[in-house]
Amino acid sequence: MRLDKFICESTSHSRVSAKKALHRGDVTCNGEVVKNSGFKVTDEHEIRLEGELLTIIGPRFIMLNKPVDTICSTIDEEYQSVISLLDVIRPEDLHIAGRLDADTTGLVLITTDGQWSHKITSPKKECGKRYLLETAEPLTDDLVQQFRDGVQLNNEDGLTKPAELEILGSNQARLTITEGKYHQVKRMLAAVGNKVTKLHRESVGAIELDAELELGEWRYLTDAEIKSVK
Ligand code: URA
Repeated sequence: MRLDKFICESTSHSRVSAKKALHRGDVTCNGEVVKNSGFKVTDEHEIRLEGELLTIIGPRFIMLNKPVDTICSTIDEEYQSVISLLDVIRPEDLHIAGRLDADTTGLVLITTDGQWSHKITSPKKECGKRYLLETAEPLTDDLVQQFRDGVQLNNEDGLTKPAELEILGSNQARLTITEGKYHQVKRMLAAVGNKVTKLHRESVGAIELDAELELGEWRYLTDAEIKSVK
């Protein structure tokens, strides 16, 4: 890899600022100053910028326990983006694999890998997302079958795909859905005359929200968690 590209891939420098750093003599290869941006970096080379050892930043996979009043897009005047909760280099390379509403808490997956996130969000992959919810009105047993059969959402063609409802208490349940339509859980409950008052995502596919993470905290995924997304 060219040295200027290597600097870009391992720092927050742009090509232009990488070249400037090279011209200033801030970059060394195995202890020798290198100014040639086309210099070919191999595994044998130890590259340092102002004395700091550089290593390529590879693909990143993150889980976050999203607090309320944060949003899963980058621009909003009212709320802070979840990306700003991560103290990582090059946050602009990250995107969110399946959004949650501002008032929903829980598991958000964030990555630099577009193919990986597609496997989570594509309806064809039928990746299950499990939510814990509370409702304004009591939940009745007949809803279990209704959600299995599918319900009609406002302004949508056809019924929702089979969803698993586990009633935990009169106003509390777990719901697993495999689609990710806009406000889907809230709209499913609205379709049966109820209202979601609290919503928390517990899992996406085989990835469970780490119980050690407080609201607003995050960690990198393990290899097994990354590979579990097929
Ligand atoms: N369904 C909703 O209605 N809101 C969410 O945040 C996630 C799923």
